[in-house]
Amino acid sequence: MKNLVVAIDGPAGAGKSTVAQLAAKELGYTYIDTGAMYRAVAWKTLQRHEPVTDELILDVVKDIDVNLQYIDGKTRVTVGNDDVSALIRTPEVSAIVSQVAALGPVRVKMVDLQRKMAERGSVLMDGRDIATNVLPNADVKIFLTASIEERAHRRWKEMKEKGYDIPLEKLQQDIAARDKADSEREISPLVQAEDATLLDTTGISIEEVVARILAMCQ
Ligand code: DC
Repeated sequence: MKNLVVAIDGPAGAGKSTVAQLAAKELGYTYIDTGAMYRAVAWKTLQRHEPVTDELILDVVKDIDVNLQYIDGKTRVTVGNDDVSALIRTPEVSAIVSQVAALGPVRVKMVDLQRKMAERGSVLMDGRDIATNVLPNADVKIFLTASIEERAHRRWKEMKEKGYDIPLEKLQQDIAARDKADSEREISPLVQAEDATLLDTTGISIEEVVARILAMCQ
């Protein structure tokens, strides 16, 4: 198997982490979920129990120790000694993560860690700015998307399985707001790289999407 660097970008709910994990497993690669890193910073910010301001976030990120490990096909996210893998997936974290991810010093620190993790190749990294900024020399670049209705429905199912009963309409509004914030921010906005392949997953099964990604990695 080739020692490729694969970049997958796209909006919230496009199915990036689901298909990226399956494709990484098939390829025997390490999967790196960069969104989890921004979520970890958001989680640590909430732990301060203070109004969330840019100043507070910048103070939190100064000495944060975020670590991603990919073990047995699962991502383990730690902040210091705390395993936050599940804690970073709450609606509270989702509500402030775009604010966190828009701040320059936060991005500089996370991008530096992400580049180090990709140094040895055989990685599949997903996020918003992987092909455009983190790994512009990636061997394979994919922009994964789906209609907003389908993305909201996927999130609704995912949250329901976790015990959250959030109205579909509310989720659709949240996703639209996050899309807007992620696409319109000044630093490394969510945008399809010129040399990325667009993969619209609306109405396509997970297996089919994975098969298309694997075909691009031949
Ligand atoms: O993929 P996700 O929903 O877990 O990402 C959480 C947030 O982090 C999302 O609002 C966008 C931001 N993000 C980013 O700005 N850059 C990345 N490379 C990954 C995520």
